[in-house]
Amino acid sequence: RVPSLRRRSVRPLTITCSSEISIARSDFPGSFMFGASSSAIQTESTPTEGGRGPSINDHYYEGLPGVESYTKYKEDVSCLKNTNMDAYRFSIAWPRILPTGKLSDGFNQEGIDFYNNLIDELISNGIEPFVTLFHFDMPEALQTDYGGFLSPNIVADFNDYADLCFKTFGHKVKYWATCNEPLTFIQKTYMVDGFDLPRDPYKAAHNLLLSHATAVKTYRNNYLSTQNGKIGMIMDISWYSPLNVTPKDVDAANRGWDFMLGWFLDPLVTGDYPISMKSIVRERLPEFSSAQAELVKGSYDYVGINYYTARYAQALPFSSNDVAISYDKDQYLNALTSNANGIDIGEKAEGVDWLYFCPEELGAVLMKLKHKYNNPLIYITENGTADKVDISKPLDQETLQDDARIRYMKGHLYYLAKAIRDGANVHGYMVWSLMDNVEMDSGYTAGFGVHYVDHSNDFKRVPKKSAEWFKDFLTIPSLRR
Ligand code: NOJ
Repeated sequence: RVPSLRRRSVRPLTITCSSEISIARSDFPGSFMFGASSSAIQTESTPTEGGRGPSINDHYYEGLPGVESYTKYKEDVSCLKNTNMDAYRFSIAWPRILPTGKLSDGFNQEGIDFYNNLIDELISNGIEPFVTLFHFDMPEALQTDYGGFLSPNIVADFNDYADLCFKTFGHKVKYWATCNEPLTFIQKTYMVDGFDLPRDPYKAAHNLLLSHATAVKTYRNNYLSTQNGKIGMIMDISWYSPLNVTPKDVDAANRGWDFMLGWFLDPLVTGDYPISMKSIVRERLPEFSSAQAELVKGSYDYVGINYYTARYAQALPFSSNDVAISYDKDQYLNALTSNANGIDIGEKAEGVDWLYFCPEELGAVLMKLKHKYNNPLIYITENGTADKVDISKPLDQETLQDDARIRYMKGHLYYLAKAIRDGANVHGYMVWSLMDNVEMDSGYTAGFGVHYVDHSNDFKRVPKKSAEWFKDFLTIPSLRR
Protein backbone atom coordinates (compact mmCIF):
# COMPACT_ATOMS: atom_id res chain seq x y z
CA ARG A 1 0.00 0.00 0.00
CA VAL A 2 3.00 2.31 0.18
CA PRO A 3 3.27 4.11 -3.15
CA SER A 4 6.64 4.52 -4.75
CA LEU A 5 8.37 7.51 -3.37
CA ARG A 6 9.76 10.16 -5.61
CA ARG A 7 11.49 13.10 -4.03
CA ARG A 8 10.83 16.58 -5.25
CA SER A 9 11.97 19.97 -4.15
CA VAL A 10 13.37 19.38 -0.65
CA ARG A 11 16.81 20.08 0.56
CA PRO A 12 18.89 16.94 0.94
CA LEU A 13 18.14 15.48 4.32
CA THR A 14 21.69 15.49 5.47
CA ILE A 15 25.23 16.26 4.67
CA THR A 16 27.45 13.27 5.13
CA CYS A 17 29.68 12.94 8.15
CA SER A 18 32.80 14.23 6.48
CA SER A 19 36.23 13.31 7.74
CA GLU A 20 37.12 16.99 7.16
CA ILE A 21 34.99 18.10 10.10
CA SER A 22 37.07 19.54 12.87
CA ILE A 23 35.80 19.28 16.43
CA ALA A 24 37.55 19.48 19.79
CA ARG A 25 36.56 19.14 23.39
CA SER A 26 37.25 22.85 23.76
CA ASP A 27 34.23 23.47 21.49
CA PHE A 28 32.09 22.31 24.45
CA PRO A 29 31.50 23.94 27.84
CA GLY A 30 34.15 22.98 30.39
CA SER A 31 31.76 21.02 32.58
CA PHE A 32 30.22 19.06 29.68
CA MET A 33 30.05 15.32 30.43
CA PHE A 34 31.29 12.75 27.90
CA GLY A 35 30.74 9.05 28.34
CA ALA A 36 29.45 5.76 27.00
CA SER A 37 26.20 3.84 27.44
CA SER A 38 25.17 0.22 27.85
CA SER A 39 22.33 -1.83 29.29
CA ALA A 40 22.16 -4.81 31.63
CA ILE A 41 20.23 -7.10 29.32
CA GLN A 42 22.66 -6.52 26.44
CA THR A 43 25.88 -6.95 28.39
CA GLU A 44 25.52 -8.88 31.66
CA SER A 45 24.32 -12.03 29.89
CA THR A 46 23.78 -14.07 33.02
CA PRO A 47 20.01 -14.37 33.06
CA THR A 48 20.07 -17.30 35.44
CA GLU A 49 23.10 -16.51 37.59
CA GLY A 50 23.50 -14.56 40.80
CA GLY A 51 19.88 -14.97 41.84
CA ARG A 52 18.46 -12.99 38.92
CA GLY A 53 14.85 -13.76 38.05
CA PRO A 54 13.66 -14.21 34.45
CA SER A 55 12.74 -11.16 32.43
CA ILE A 56 10.20 -10.77 29.71
CA ASN A 57 12.90 -9.91 27.19
CA ASP A 58 15.31 -12.78 27.86
CA HIS A 59 14.09 -14.69 24.82
CA TYR A 60 15.70 -12.09 22.55
CA TYR A 61 19.06 -13.29 23.79
CA GLU A 62 18.43 -17.02 23.89
CA GLY A 63 21.40 -19.03 22.71
CA LEU A 64 23.68 -16.03 22.51
CA PRO A 65 26.89 -16.19 24.50
CA GLY A 66 26.80 -12.71 26.05
CA VAL A 67 29.65 -10.34 26.77
CA GLU A 68 30.08 -11.28 30.43
CA SER A 69 29.90 -7.86 32.05
CA TYR A 70 28.56 -9.52 35.19
CA THR A 71 32.03 -10.93 35.81
CA LYS A 72 34.10 -8.50 33.72
CA TYR A 73 32.75 -5.20 35.01
CA LYS A 74 36.22 -4.11 36.13
CA GLU A 75 37.45 -4.49 32.55
CA ASP A 76 34.52 -2.39 31.39
CA VAL A 77 35.53 0.34 33.82
CA SER A 78 39.13 0.15 32.55
CA CYS A 79 37.82 0.68 29.03
CA LEU A 80 36.05 3.84 30.18
CA LYS A 81 39.09 5.05 32.06
CA ASN A 82 41.44 4.35 29.15
CA THR A 83 39.29 6.40 26.81
CA ASN A 84 39.26 9.36 29.25
CA MET A 85 35.49 9.19 29.68
CA ASP A 86 33.71 11.09 32.45
CA ALA A 87 30.57 8.98 32.78
CA TYR A 88 29.10 5.51 32.30
CA ARG A 89 25.42 5.02 31.64
CA PHE A 90 24.40 1.47 32.54
CA SER A 91 21.15 -0.05 33.67
CA ILE A 92 20.16 -2.00 36.74
CA ALA A 93 18.27 -5.19 35.91
CA TRP A 94 15.02 -5.01 37.86
CA PRO A 95 14.85 -8.87 38.10
CA ARG A 96 18.39 -8.96 39.48
CA ILE A 97 17.32 -6.76 42.41
CA LEU A 98 13.77 -8.12 42.76
CA PRO A 99 13.62 -11.56 41.09
CA THR A 100 9.81 -11.58 40.85
CA GLY A 101 9.58 -7.82 40.41
CA LYS A 102 7.88 -7.42 43.77
CA LEU A 103 9.51 -6.13 46.95
CA SER A 104 7.12 -8.21 49.07
CA ASP A 105 8.76 -11.39 47.64
CA GLY A 106 12.17 -10.26 48.88
CA PHE A 107 15.24 -8.72 47.31
CA ASN A 108 18.38 -10.40 46.00
CA GLN A 109 21.42 -9.33 48.03
CA GLU A 110 23.82 -10.71 45.43
CA GLY A 111 22.34 -8.39 42.85
CA ILE A 112 22.64 -5.41 45.16
CA ASP A 113 26.27 -6.33 45.85
CA PHE A 114 26.99 -6.53 42.12
CA TYR A 115 25.74 -3.01 41.41
CA ASN A 116 27.43 -1.64 44.53
CA ASN A 117 30.70 -3.10 43.30
CA LEU A 118 30.23 -1.66 39.82
CA ILE A 119 29.33 1.78 41.17
CA ASP A 120 32.28 1.75 43.60
CA GLU A 121 34.66 0.74 40.82
CA LEU A 122 33.39 3.60 38.66
CA ILE A 123 33.66 6.16 41.43
CA SER A 124 37.13 5.09 42.49
CA ASN A 125 38.20 5.59 38.86
CA GLY A 126 36.64 9.05 38.72
CA ILE A 127 33.74 8.00 36.49
CA GLU A 128 30.23 9.27 37.14
CA PRO A 129 27.54 6.56 37.27
CA PHE A 130 24.45 7.43 35.19
CA VAL A 131 21.86 4.80 36.03
CA THR A 132 18.80 3.63 34.11
CA LEU A 133 16.28 1.77 36.26
CA PHE A 134 14.40 0.06 33.45
CA HIS A 135 15.93 -0.82 30.07
CA PHE A 136 13.50 -3.37 28.56
CA ASP A 137 14.03 -6.18 31.13
CA MET A 138 10.72 -6.26 32.98
CA PRO A 139 10.48 -9.15 35.46
CA GLU A 140 8.50 -11.94 33.82
CA ALA A 141 6.39 -12.65 36.91
CA LEU A 142 4.76 -9.24 36.62
CA GLN A 143 3.65 -10.03 33.09
CA THR A 144 2.29 -13.41 34.17
CA ASP A 145 0.59 -12.07 37.28
CA TYR A 146 -1.22 -9.08 35.94
CA GLY A 147 -0.10 -8.29 32.37
CA GLY A 148 2.85 -6.05 33.21
CA PHE A 149 2.35 -2.48 32.05
CA LEU A 150 -1.18 -3.28 30.88
CA SER A 151 -2.19 -3.12 34.54
CA PRO A 152 -2.07 -0.11 36.86
CA ASN A 153 -0.62 -2.54 39.47
CA ILE A 154 2.77 -1.97 37.88
CA VAL A 155 2.91 1.58 39.26
CA ALA A 156 3.32 0.46 42.89
CA ASP A 157 5.76 -2.34 42.01
CA PHE A 158 7.95 -0.05 39.94
CA ASN A 159 7.85 2.53 42.71
CA ASP A 160 8.97 -0.03 45.32
CA TYR A 161 11.83 -1.06 43.04
CA ALA A 162 12.89 2.53 42.34
CA ASP A 163 12.61 3.42 46.03
CA LEU A 164 14.88 0.50 46.97
CA CYS A 165 17.44 1.65 44.38
CA PHE A 166 17.37 5.27 45.58
CA LYS A 167 17.74 4.09 49.18
CA THR A 168 20.55 1.66 48.38
CA PHE A 169 22.59 3.47 45.74
CA GLY A 170 21.39 7.08 45.85
CA HIS A 171 24.18 8.40 48.07
CA LYS A 172 26.55 7.46 45.21
CA VAL A 173 24.38 7.92 42.10
CA LYS A 174 23.49 11.48 41.06
CA TYR A 175 21.96 10.77 37.65
CA TRP A 176 18.86 8.60 37.43
CA ALA A 177 16.73 7.66 34.45
CA THR A 178 13.47 5.88 35.18
CA CYS A 179 12.97 4.26 31.80
CA ASN A 180 14.84 3.83 28.53
CA GLU A 181 13.08 4.30 25.18
CA PRO A 182 9.47 3.80 26.24
CA LEU A 183 8.40 3.90 22.59
CA THR A 184 10.61 0.96 21.59
CA PHE A 185 9.67 -1.00 24.68
CA ILE A 186 5.95 -0.49 24.16
CA GLN A 187 6.15 -1.17 20.42
CA LYS A 188 8.08 -4.38 20.86
CA THR A 189 6.09 -5.63 23.80
CA TYR A 190 2.50 -4.50 23.40
CA MET A 191 2.24 -3.76 19.69
CA VAL A 192 3.56 -6.91 17.96
CA ASP A 193 2.64 -10.59 18.13
CA GLY A 194 6.08 -11.65 19.34
CA PHE A 195 4.99 -11.88 22.95
CA ASP A 196 1.50 -13.21 22.44
CA LEU A 197 0.20 -10.48 24.71
CA PRO A 198 -2.87 -8.35 24.34
CA ARG A 199 -1.94 -5.46 22.07
CA ASP A 200 -2.77 -2.32 23.89
CA PRO A 201 0.15 0.05 23.55
CA TYR A 202 -1.75 3.14 24.64
CA LYS A 203 -2.85 1.63 27.93
CA ALA A 204 0.64 0.24 28.59
CA ALA A 205 2.23 3.60 27.80
CA HIS A 206 -0.18 5.35 30.14
CA ASN A 207 0.78 3.05 33.02
CA LEU A 208 4.44 3.48 32.14
CA LEU A 209 4.12 7.26 32.36
CA LEU A 210 2.37 6.96 35.73
CA SER A 211 5.09 4.56 36.96
CA HIS A 212 7.78 7.02 35.91
CA ALA A 213 6.06 9.99 37.52
CA THR A 214 5.36 8.16 40.78
CA ALA A 215 9.02 7.16 41.09
CA VAL A 216 10.09 10.76 40.41
CA LYS A 217 7.71 11.94 43.13
CA THR A 218 9.21 9.42 45.56
CA TYR A 219 12.71 10.62 44.70
CA ARG A 220 11.78 14.26 45.16
CA ASN A 221 9.85 13.72 48.39
CA ASN A 222 12.21 11.31 50.14
CA TYR A 223 15.71 11.55 48.67
CA LEU A 224 16.33 14.78 46.80
CA SER A 225 17.18 16.89 49.85
CA THR A 226 19.87 14.48 51.05
CA GLN A 227 21.05 12.97 47.76
CA ASN A 228 20.74 15.99 45.51
CA GLY A 229 20.63 14.15 42.17
CA LYS A 230 18.74 14.55 38.92
CA ILE A 231 16.06 12.26 37.54
CA GLY A 232 14.53 12.06 34.08
CA MET A 233 13.36 9.74 31.30
CA ILE A 234 15.24 8.63 28.19
CA MET A 235 13.43 8.99 24.87
CA ASP A 236 14.08 7.72 21.37
CA ILE A 237 13.70 10.29 18.64
CA SER A 238 14.42 10.41 14.92
CA TRP A 239 14.12 13.62 12.98
CA TYR A 240 11.24 13.58 10.49
CA SER A 241 11.78 15.69 7.41
CA PRO A 242 8.87 16.36 5.02
CA LEU A 243 9.50 14.51 1.78
CA ASN A 244 8.04 17.38 -0.21
CA VAL A 245 7.43 20.88 0.99
CA THR A 246 3.68 20.58 1.00
CA PRO A 247 1.39 21.22 3.96
CA LYS A 248 0.42 17.53 3.97
CA ASP A 249 3.99 16.27 4.22
CA VAL A 250 4.80 18.89 6.84
CA ASP A 251 1.81 17.59 8.83
CA ALA A 252 3.10 14.03 8.37
CA ALA A 253 6.49 15.06 9.76
CA ASN A 254 4.80 16.65 12.77
CA ARG A 255 2.73 13.51 13.33
CA GLY A 256 5.94 11.46 13.21
CA TRP A 257 7.35 13.62 16.00
CA ASP A 258 4.13 13.45 18.05
CA PHE A 259 3.70 9.68 17.79
CA MET A 260 7.35 8.97 18.51
CA LEU A 261 8.47 11.52 21.10
CA GLY A 262 5.39 13.59 21.88
CA TRP A 263 3.52 10.51 23.16
CA PHE A 264 5.88 10.50 26.15
CA LEU A 265 7.42 13.96 26.34
CA ASP A 266 4.27 16.05 25.89
CA PRO A 267 2.68 14.53 29.04
CA LEU A 268 5.86 15.23 31.02
CA VAL A 269 5.85 18.87 29.92
CA THR A 270 2.12 19.67 29.61
CA GLY A 271 0.33 16.89 31.52
CA ASP A 272 -1.44 15.70 28.35
CA TYR A 273 -0.95 13.81 25.07
CA PRO A 274 -0.36 15.62 21.75
CA ILE A 275 -3.51 16.90 20.04
CA SER A 276 -2.75 14.84 16.91
CA MET A 277 -2.73 11.64 18.98
CA LYS A 278 -5.97 12.53 20.68
CA SER A 279 -7.73 13.15 17.40
CA ILE A 280 -6.38 10.04 15.65
CA VAL A 281 -6.36 7.47 18.45
CA ARG A 282 -9.55 8.84 20.01
CA GLU A 283 -11.13 6.72 22.74
CA ARG A 284 -8.29 4.18 22.63
CA LEU A 285 -5.99 6.80 24.13
CA PRO A 286 -6.47 6.91 27.92
CA GLU A 287 -7.22 10.27 29.47
CA PHE A 288 -5.21 11.73 32.29
CA SER A 289 -7.39 12.46 35.31
CA SER A 290 -6.57 15.83 36.84
CA ALA A 291 -4.61 14.12 39.65
CA GLN A 292 -2.64 12.08 37.09
CA ALA A 293 -1.95 15.15 34.96
CA GLU A 294 -0.63 16.96 38.01
CA LEU A 295 1.58 13.99 38.90
CA VAL A 296 3.04 13.61 35.40
CA LYS A 297 3.47 17.27 34.49
CA GLY A 298 6.96 18.46 35.38
CA SER A 299 8.15 14.99 36.43
CA TYR A 300 11.67 15.40 35.02
CA ASP A 301 14.82 17.34 35.78
CA TYR A 302 16.29 16.52 32.36
CA VAL A 303 15.29 14.81 29.14
CA GLY A 304 17.54 11.99 27.88
CA ILE A 305 17.71 11.79 24.09
CA ASN A 306 18.74 8.71 22.09
CA TYR A 307 19.37 10.01 18.59
CA TYR A 308 20.58 7.81 15.72
CA THR A 309 18.97 8.77 12.43
CA ALA A 310 16.46 10.79 10.45
CA ARG A 311 13.60 9.77 8.16
CA TYR A 312 11.48 11.35 5.50
CA ALA A 313 7.81 11.80 6.20
CA GLN A 314 5.23 11.61 3.48
CA ALA A 315 1.49 11.93 3.95
CA LEU A 316 -0.11 8.64 3.03
CA PRO A 317 -3.79 7.87 3.27
CA PHE A 318 -4.55 6.19 6.56
CA SER A 319 -7.57 5.47 8.65
CA SER A 320 -7.71 6.01 12.34
CA ASN A 321 -8.34 2.29 12.70
CA ASP A 322 -4.93 1.45 11.26
CA VAL A 323 -3.40 3.38 14.08
CA ALA A 324 -5.77 2.98 16.96
CA ILE A 325 -7.04 -0.53 16.53
CA SER A 326 -4.57 -2.69 14.63
CA TYR A 327 -1.57 -1.97 16.84
CA ASP A 328 0.69 -3.39 14.21
CA LYS A 329 4.13 -1.89 14.70
CA ASP A 330 4.80 -1.18 11.05
CA GLN A 331 1.34 -0.03 10.30
CA TYR A 332 1.55 2.28 13.27
CA LEU A 333 4.24 4.52 11.88
CA ASN A 334 3.63 3.81 8.22
CA ALA A 335 0.02 4.77 8.55
CA LEU A 336 1.04 8.13 9.87
CA THR A 337 4.16 8.84 7.92
CA SER A 338 6.27 6.92 5.54
CA ASN A 339 9.79 6.60 6.79
CA ALA A 340 10.76 6.48 3.14
CA ASN A 341 13.49 3.99 3.74
CA GLY A 342 13.57 3.34 0.01
CA ILE A 343 15.15 6.71 -0.55
CA ASP A 344 18.84 7.23 -0.29
CA ILE A 345 19.15 9.81 2.46
CA GLY A 346 22.84 9.63 3.06
CA GLU A 347 25.46 7.21 4.22
CA LYS A 348 23.99 4.03 5.65
CA ALA A 349 25.30 2.10 8.64
CA GLU A 350 26.85 -1.20 7.67
CA GLY A 351 25.45 -3.24 10.54
CA VAL A 352 21.71 -2.36 10.61
CA ASP A 353 19.30 -1.35 7.90
CA TRP A 354 17.50 1.50 9.65
CA LEU A 355 20.36 3.87 10.41
CA TYR A 356 21.47 6.69 8.09
CA PHE A 357 24.11 9.25 9.01
CA CYS A 358 22.13 12.45 9.53
CA PRO A 359 24.18 14.59 11.91
CA GLU A 360 22.68 17.94 11.03
CA GLU A 361 19.26 16.68 12.06
CA LEU A 362 20.50 16.14 15.61
CA GLY A 363 20.80 19.94 15.69
CA ALA A 364 17.26 20.22 14.30
CA VAL A 365 15.94 17.90 17.04
CA LEU A 366 17.68 19.95 19.73
CA MET A 367 16.36 23.25 18.40
CA LYS A 368 12.83 21.88 18.23
CA LEU A 369 13.13 20.60 21.82
CA LYS A 370 14.33 24.03 22.91
CA HIS A 371 11.47 25.89 21.28
CA LYS A 372 8.62 23.44 21.82
CA TYR A 373 9.36 22.38 25.40
CA ASN A 374 10.81 25.44 27.18
CA ASN A 375 14.46 24.66 26.64
CA PRO A 376 14.78 21.59 28.89
CA LEU A 377 18.05 20.35 30.33
CA ILE A 378 19.16 17.59 27.95
CA TYR A 379 21.64 14.74 28.01
CA ILE A 380 22.34 12.87 24.78
CA THR A 381 22.14 9.45 26.37
CA GLU A 382 22.77 7.45 23.16
CA ASN A 383 24.21 8.17 19.73
CA GLY A 384 26.20 5.83 17.54
CA THR A 385 26.39 3.57 14.52
CA ALA A 386 26.75 -0.16 13.86
CA ASP A 387 29.55 -2.08 12.17
CA LYS A 388 28.79 -5.40 10.53
CA VAL A 389 30.31 -8.01 12.82
CA ASP A 390 31.04 -11.70 12.44
CA ILE A 391 32.05 -13.05 15.84
CA SER A 392 32.84 -16.48 14.42
CA LYS A 393 35.82 -15.05 12.51
CA PRO A 394 39.17 -14.56 14.23
CA LEU A 395 39.77 -10.92 15.09
CA ASP A 396 41.64 -9.08 12.36
CA GLN A 397 42.88 -5.51 12.13
CA GLU A 398 40.22 -4.52 9.62
CA THR A 399 37.48 -5.14 12.18
CA LEU A 400 39.02 -2.52 14.44
CA GLN A 401 39.29 0.15 11.72
CA ASP A 402 35.92 1.75 12.33
CA ASP A 403 36.52 4.97 10.40
CA ALA A 404 32.80 5.26 9.67
CA ARG A 405 32.10 5.49 13.42
CA ILE A 406 34.68 8.24 13.86
CA ARG A 407 33.09 10.22 11.03
CA TYR A 408 29.67 9.58 12.53
CA MET A 409 30.69 10.84 15.97
CA LYS A 410 32.58 13.85 14.65
CA GLY A 411 29.59 14.87 12.53
CA HIS A 412 27.17 14.56 15.43
CA LEU A 413 29.48 16.30 17.89
CA TYR A 414 29.97 19.14 15.41
CA TYR A 415 26.23 19.79 15.14
CA LEU A 416 25.79 19.25 18.87
CA ALA A 417 28.38 21.94 19.66
CA LYS A 418 26.66 24.26 17.19
CA ALA A 419 23.25 23.64 18.81
CA ILE A 420 24.73 24.44 22.21
CA ARG A 421 26.11 27.71 20.83
CA ASP A 422 22.59 28.38 19.51
CA GLY A 423 21.16 27.96 22.98
CA ALA A 424 20.29 24.26 23.36
CA ASN A 425 20.68 23.32 27.03
CA VAL A 426 22.68 20.09 26.54
CA HIS A 427 25.07 19.04 29.30
CA GLY A 428 26.32 15.63 28.23
CA TYR A 429 26.89 13.18 25.38
CA MET A 430 27.17 9.40 25.68
CA VAL A 431 28.07 7.16 22.81
CA TRP A 432 26.19 3.89 22.27
CA SER A 433 27.99 1.76 23.12
CA LEU A 434 31.03 1.13 25.28
CA MET A 435 31.45 -2.27 23.61
CA ASP A 436 29.75 -4.49 21.06
CA ASN A 437 26.82 -6.30 22.66
CA VAL A 438 23.61 -8.15 21.85
CA GLU A 439 21.45 -5.98 19.65
CA MET A 440 17.72 -6.66 19.64
CA ASP A 441 16.71 -8.04 16.25
CA SER A 442 20.35 -8.28 15.04
CA GLY A 443 22.06 -10.31 17.78
CA TYR A 444 25.82 -10.06 17.38
CA THR A 445 25.85 -9.12 13.71
CA ALA A 446 25.63 -5.43 14.57
CA GLY A 447 28.47 -3.96 16.62
CA PHE A 448 27.72 -0.53 18.10
CA GLY A 449 30.77 -0.53 20.40
CA VAL A 450 33.86 1.63 20.48
CA HIS A 451 35.38 -1.60 21.82
CA TYR A 452 35.22 -4.95 20.06
CA VAL A 453 34.49 -8.02 22.19
CA ASP A 454 36.55 -11.04 21.19
CA HIS A 455 34.24 -14.00 21.76
CA SER A 456 36.96 -16.50 20.92
CA ASN A 457 39.40 -15.03 23.41
CA ASP A 458 37.64 -14.94 26.77
CA PHE A 459 35.46 -11.98 25.77
CA LYS A 460 38.45 -9.66 25.80
CA ARG A 461 37.55 -6.02 25.17
CA VAL A 462 39.69 -4.60 22.37
CA PRO A 463 39.68 -0.87 21.57
CA LYS A 464 38.58 0.00 18.05
CA LYS A 465 40.10 2.99 16.28
CA SER A 466 37.13 5.05 17.53
CA ALA A 467 38.11 4.35 21.16
CA GLU A 468 41.56 5.75 20.38
CA TRP A 469 39.91 8.73 18.72
CA PHE A 470 37.78 9.32 21.84
CA LYS A 471 40.82 9.04 24.04
CA ASP A 472 42.59 11.79 22.08
CA PHE A 473 39.47 13.92 21.83
CA LEU A 474 39.08 13.75 25.62
CA THR A 475 42.71 14.37 26.49
CA ILE A 476 41.86 17.86 27.72
CA PRO A 477 40.37 17.00 31.10
CA SER A 478 36.84 18.03 31.88
CA LEU A 479 36.34 20.72 34.52
CA ARG A 480 34.06 18.17 36.17
CA ARG A 481 37.10 16.30 37.46
C1 NOJ B 1 18.42 1.95 21.63
C2 NOJ B 1 18.45 1.11 22.84
O1 NOJ B 1 18.34 1.82 24.02
C3 NOJ B 1 19.59 0.13 22.87
O2 NOJ B 1 19.18 -0.91 23.70
C4 NOJ B 1 19.96 -0.33 21.47
O3 NOJ B 1 20.93 -1.31 21.45
C5 NOJ B 1 20.44 0.87 20.68
N1 NOJ B 1 19.44 1.93 20.69
C6 NOJ B 1 20.85 0.57 19.23
O4 NOJ B 1 19.76 0.14 18.51
